[in-house]
Amino acid sequence: MIGELSMKKTARSAHRSGDAAPLGVYVHVPFCSSRCDYCAFATWTDRHHLIDDYLAAVRRDIARAFATESRAVESVFVGGGTPSLVPADLLVAALAEIPLVPGAEVTVECNPDDVTDELLAAFAEGRVTRISLGVQSMVPRILELLGRQHDPDNVISAVDSIRRIGFTSFNLDLIYGTATERLDEWHTTLERALHLDPPHISAYGLTVEPGTPLAADPARYPDDDVQAEEYEVADELLTAAGLVNYEVSNWSRPGHECRHNLLYWRQHDYLGFGCAAHSHVAGRRWWNLRTPERYVAAVADGQATEAAGETLDAETRRLEALQLSLRTTAGVPRDALDGESLDGLVEPCGDRWVLTRHGRLLANEVAVRLR
Ligand SMILES: C[S@@+](CC[C@H](N)C(=O)[O-])C[C@H]1O[C@@H](n2cnc3c(N)ncnc32)[C@H](O)[C@@H]1O
Ligand code: SF4
Repeated sequence: MIGELSMKKTARSAHRSGDAAPLGVYVHVPFCSSRCDYCAFATWTDRHHLIDDYLAAVRRDIARAFATESRAVESVFVGGGTPSLVPADLLVAALAEIPLVPGAEVTVECNPDDVTDELLAAFAEGRVTRISLGVQSMVPRILELLGRQHDPDNVISAVDSIRRIGFTSFNLDLIYGTATERLDEWHTTLERALHLDPPHISAYGLTVEPGTPLAADPARYPDDDVQAEEYEVADELLTAAGLVNYEVSNWSRPGHECRHNLLYWRQHDYLGFGCAAHSHVAGRRWWNLRTPERYVAAVADGQATEAAGETLDAETRRLEALQLSLRTTAGVPRDALDGESLDGLVEPCGDRWVLTRHGRLLANEVAVRLR
């Protein structure tokens, strides 16, 4: 198996030709062992019987797409759902169909309680370069409130494995703003996470997604003021530890920024594989059939997996580029914003406006002023 994969590795590595636009790949794995009640992602807990057929369909779909796509891929992100739940050899076999540029970034999202040395060794052999761990909190009470299946010890042992197997880049996902979370508990989460010395942390304010059980229970909605305070504490502690905020919700050591997310924020092209996956090429966006059953059937029948799509006009694309860039340290050109009227929310940086810490909390309000 390893021999076969290494041959594939050589066969499917390629250089990006000339000045072609950078290309990324997203692979969606829509299976979870239990459903977190704040989560709106396309994922199922009762369809594990589809896993083998699903990964075979993803493999075939990728091979089919790259029969005509001449560009090699700069970054791959395998997200979910729970990619660490499915057999690693089948996932890696699908990834082997992707032609990568030398040094490409390949990230797989993992739930901490799934991580073992064997799983990570299989990923490393399959050209995975980066692990993103769904930590959310390092406080047992908050993990329980979030309905998570893991505990902080699972996170510590997962990070040990990540280091033992030799991954030098990894991310910890955190969530703040769970109802009744105290500031000292969030502080504890940040300190325990930083104690693991991660090169990258994403911290997301808990969002009430329509249609989720959380949305049906207003008593558990996060408090905006508490969340704002938690964001400021996160930025202070993470910055003091040497992690640089490079996008509203993302901090990294220099050189460990997530290249795949940067590709999204720069409006580059990406192809999405698997059910509900989104794609974008040169201003046209489309998304795949939502359920794994329909996706598997479409691939088997040689049909398109696209459910629907849209083409952005030039003006919408231009404004979207500014909105995305505003959220990053790149900021926006001075003439895109009346920065003087947004006192304290943006500051000048060379010939650009960039968000201040306070401005990052109000990024959406600033974005509506872009011109
Ligand atoms: C879709 S999950 C997949 C990863 C993995 N299954 C997990 O939950 O750990 C990716 C990340 O999105 C974030 N996330 C999901 N739903 C969210 C919500 N309603 N509000 C804020 N963050 C959310 C979590 O931090 C999670 O790690
Ligand atoms: S948050 Fe992660 S583990 Fe929970 S249901 Fe969503 S994808 Fe699955």
